[in-house]
Amino acid sequence: MCGIFGYVGPGDAVSIVINGLKKLEYRGYDSAGIAGVKNGQLKYAKEVGKLSVLEKEVQDQGLRFDIAIGHTRWATHGVPTKINAHPHLDTNHTLAVVHNGIIENHESLRSALKQKGVKFVSDTDTEVVAHLIASFYQGDLLEAFRQTVGLLKGAFAIAVVHKDFPDRILVTANQCPLVVGVGNNEAFIASDSHALAKHTREVFFISDAEIAVVTADKVEVFDAKHEPISKELMTLAYEAESIEKGSYAHFTLKEIHEQPQAIRNAMGSRFVEEYGSVTFEELKFDINDLIGVQRILILGCGSSYHAGLLGSYMLEDLARIPTQVEIASEFRYRNPIVKSGTLIIAISQSGETADTIAAVKEVRAKGTKVLAICNVQGSTLTRESDGCIFLRAGPEIGVCSTKGFTTQVVVLALLTVLLARMRHMSKQEGQDFLHHLQKLPDQVQQVLNNSAQFEKLAKKYANYDSAFFIGRRYMFPTSLEGALKLKEISYINSSGYAAGEMKHGPIALLNPKCPVFALCANKTTFSKLESNLREVKSRGSPLVAIAEEGLNHLGGIPDDIIRVPETIDELEPILVTVATQLLAYYIANERGADIDQPRNLAKSVTVE
Ligand code: F6R
Repeated sequence: MCGIFGYVGPGDAVSIVINGLKKLEYRGYDSAGIAGVKNGQLKYAKEVGKLSVLEKEVQDQGLRFDIAIGHTRWATHGVPTKINAHPHLDTNHTLAVVHNGIIENHESLRSALKQKGVKFVSDTDTEVVAHLIASFYQGDLLEAFRQTVGLLKGAFAIAVVHKDFPDRILVTANQCPLVVGVGNNEAFIASDSHALAKHTREVFFISDAEIAVVTADKVEVFDAKHEPISKELMTLAYEAESIEKGSYAHFTLKEIHEQPQAIRNAMGSRFVEEYGSVTFEELKFDINDLIGVQRILILGCGSSYHAGLLGSYMLEDLARIPTQVEIASEFRYRNPIVKSGTLIIAISQSGETADTIAAVKEVRAKGTKVLAICNVQGSTLTRESDGCIFLRAGPEIGVCSTKGFTTQVVVLALLTVLLARMRHMSKQEGQDFLHHLQKLPDQVQQVLNNSAQFEKLAKKYANYDSAFFIGRRYMFPTSLEGALKLKEISYINSSGYAAGEMKHGPIALLNPKCPVFALCANKTTFSKLESNLREVKSRGSPLVAIAEEGLNHLGGIPDDIIRVPETIDELEPILVTVATQLLAYYIANERGADIDQPRNLAKSVTVE
């Protein structure tokens, strides 16, 4: 949450930083700002609203900098106003600070500074950082920054520029992502490596408590004990084009359409068809660790939690390993019981979700190994886990998870095959399962080819204020995901429910103004679901069924039917999810919603 971008080098710092912030806007978009140094003077601009407002202001003012740092905000402390927007400055405007995360002890630091006569102008936790550095500064910026960082508690990534040092940006991070990009006589800082792809592929991440002094030709890094350290550069794998919208109206739509290829990539080179099994070349787990697994505990938030639920069904059904799934934000405070023989799987598209990372730290402190399933190379989760399987979905920029979710389910399906084959799944069963997986990208494409039907249905269902998604077995987590997508991008109050639960309460809400989307693609329980459909219909709710092509018993119950290709129950959630994504997208579009950047949300939830 919140995006930081900074530039040191001979290029046009203002436009490089503004363009860098555009790539990070999905992390927060309630206000934005930029500060930099020119001719020994510190200047800045801040605006409420989207980055485009700041961009115009910067142009109107004709701002020019030699170095610059910028910020796009997702408000935590203080409402989104110009004053609360970053950068924050000290009283004499000698330095500027941008910050991502939360400084937990800002109240006590603020009181101490106030007692010394410092006047605060904003409600933010960040402003204390600017005043602290100024209070320690006696000509040595690094020393003043060190003393300041030593006082801070919480999760943060911070960047500072000072008028006396027009050639450098100082940065630090603690439990928050901050990446340094090294170019040819230029350097960049960013909250997310995607934002650097246009400029450089050579990057390194700032680890907890490290401080770096970033200049155009050299980056010096110091550890928590202030000792100089050398950091190994890693090379980013993706192309700059992958973070452009291209001809699509929204990143979300582009990413929905990228799913056939993303799923192909998630599976590519991982099949061992000869043995009906799977291999993950990047997974550094000892084979005995996997053979000895007696229980699995999956952790995640939001869509990643929903993917985890689907994974748990597959792992129990096919690998026969008891599997529990927990919402990371709840789990982390429960002093969890983790028995030996338990494999922890942490799922996160971004690898930066604060609650998931905290839950991982908690279980690792208890001596348990953690396997991460993640999309972003070098992200905090990948560094905090014992092994990682990558989604290979490519950058996901739209705030709502689409290809991130479906590739998570694919990776969980592959992991299920691996663990099941180590147990009692036969070679033939393994091969059959892989065969169904192989057909998925084309089947997803078939759903996408049907976009016109979704657009048409969206017109019919866009004006309701509430909706239900219902399903059984594999369609239950799928209903949770479908409802989440609709609510977050269209703001329709939608709930996902296990179809059998409807009559235990929620059915009271059904009426002609509340449509129900019934996910009918689970063969083993369809006959049970059929009665639920009748119950819905007799309460007058408009009913849309999403059903497999071969399912012919819908007998005129639904008002509308969306068909998806037929596959095995375990994989049908992927096809149905693509259908619910398209439905949510077109309904949101019909309602004129800001699909890539829904209100109050941000990608990468790096605060609790
Ligand atoms: C929903 C969505 C969120 C994320 C959640 C976890 O569309 O995007 O619910 O799934 O914030 O994010 P990651 O997977 O990055 O940990």
